[in-house]
Amino acid sequence: MEMNRRDFLRGMGAAGAGMMVFNQTSGLFAQNANPAATPANSNINVALIGAGTQGRILAECIRKIPGINFKAICDIWEYNRNYTAKRIKAYTKKTVNAYIDYKEMLEKEPDLDAVVIATPDCYHAEHTIACLKAGKHVYCEKEMSHKLELAAEMVKTANETGKLLQIGHQRRSNPVYQYAYKMIHEDKMCGRLTALYGQWNRTPEDLLAWPAGKEVPEDILKQYGYDNMEQFKNWRWFKKYSGGPIADLGSHQIDIFSWFLNAEPYAVTAFGGADYFPNREWYEDVTVMYDYKTTFDGKPGSARSYYQVLNTSGWQEYYERFAGDRGTINLSENPKNCFYIPGSNVEIPKWMEGIEQMTLGGGVQAIPLIPALKNRGDDYKAVMEDFEQKQGHHLHLENFFAAVAKNDKKMLNCPGEIGYDTCVTVLSVIPAVEKGGLKIR
Ligand SMILES: NC(=O)c1ccc[n+]([C@@H]2O[C@H](COP(=O)([O-])OP(=O)(O)OC[C@H]3O[C@@H](n4cnc5c(N)ncnc54)[C@H](O)[C@@H]3O)[C@@H](O)[C@H]2O)c1
Repeated sequence: MEMNRRDFLRGMGAAGAGMMVFNQTSGLFAQNANPAATPANSNINVALIGAGTQGRILAECIRKIPGINFKAICDIWEYNRNYTAKRIKAYTKKTVNAYIDYKEMLEKEPDLDAVVIATPDCYHAEHTIACLKAGKHVYCEKEMSHKLELAAEMVKTANETGKLLQIGHQRRSNPVYQYAYKMIHEDKMCGRLTALYGQWNRTPEDLLAWPAGKEVPEDILKQYGYDNMEQFKNWRWFKKYSGGPIADLGSHQIDIFSWFLNAEPYAVTAFGGADYFPNREWYEDVTVMYDYKTTFDGKPGSARSYYQVLNTSGWQEYYERFAGDRGTINLSENPKNCFYIPGSNVEIPKWMEGIEQMTLGGGVQAIPLIPALKNRGDDYKAVMEDFEQKQGHHLHLENFFAAVAKNDKKMLNCPGEIGYDTCVTVLSVIPAVEKGGLKIR
């Protein structure tokens, strides 16, 4: 399928302060105009649909990006709608129009240029497609959709309307990840990648509650397809609204495996358990293995990834690890878990010399990536310092608005096509779990 080809678009992505532009296919950095500066005079009118936990984080980032006018928000829950509208007004000193229904918002806000969508996954396709058809560019949170056919429809609509669609896999705009890609593919600091590992481990948590007396009225819940308030708040755990923890958390990290291997997996095997919590539908724990056909230095080879999401045990939290025959890189959104371990008898580059090493379990010495990258040169240092101020969501939104300002799809770090490929890979886990492995007893 045309849309299933990851190489359709890797695009030129903006790195950090925009001192460089990063090409994810070639891994090359080039000096370029500061893309973050592009929106400063660009007057982009923006609305947010979905002002919950993530919507608020995105709203906080958007209000800080120069050149963006926050015009409207839409949320079916009065509690979240009012909270976020008040916060934006307090900072921007401008009124933000608030709507319950996105159709009314699109009708009454004809001047919107772009819409940021942070509703539950089951609503991503409806909201994205309507906004694209109304002529708006869209930043839609991951997981792009809980249904593959809906994700495909989102890509198709973006291409038909010519509007930009960015998916919220923000690691793709994180310069630590972008530089790690370069270390692997240009500097060859890990040699040939053969084994990837990732995890997101959490201690068991109760279902989310809501402030007493602040429920969404029954008729609104029903109108928008929510069975009750508990499911409305805990949509991630129910099949009607979400692909479950493997889609919610795994999609971020499994997406990075494909990016770093320049390949999509051709096969999957997986196991999952849905027997720990009595009150939820989705698999709380999933272990997955993918197999990839790769090339290294022009030679064909293979690699495997192992991924687990646990909601029953939290040790070591979340990270991704890329192991090859000359070294290993560990990455995480937690900067403390970003480090390089050279293989035995592998010389480290000059810019890593003198960096205070960290001691891991078993006394293993690792070189922390952020101080090392800051030592690599002035451009790297500036990008890393900018990253430390802003973090991933902000940079991913900056990348989106920079692309919107130039109406240039090639600038997007995570266009719909990549989001779709990730959906194919991640949602394949569900039938793989249902099928089970080779029975031995
Ligand atoms: N990129 C990331 O790191 C990241 C992190 C967390 C969440 N997310 C994604 O962000 C999205 C939202 O997650 P969340 O944790 O904020 O969930 P949430 O439940 O806290 O917020 C969802 C909001 O959407 C509103 N809503 C629900 N249906 C709606 C509809 N039909 N129209 C308008 N508003 C509606 C709810 O009232 C709520 O305010 C999800 O897709 C999630 O996967 C991404």
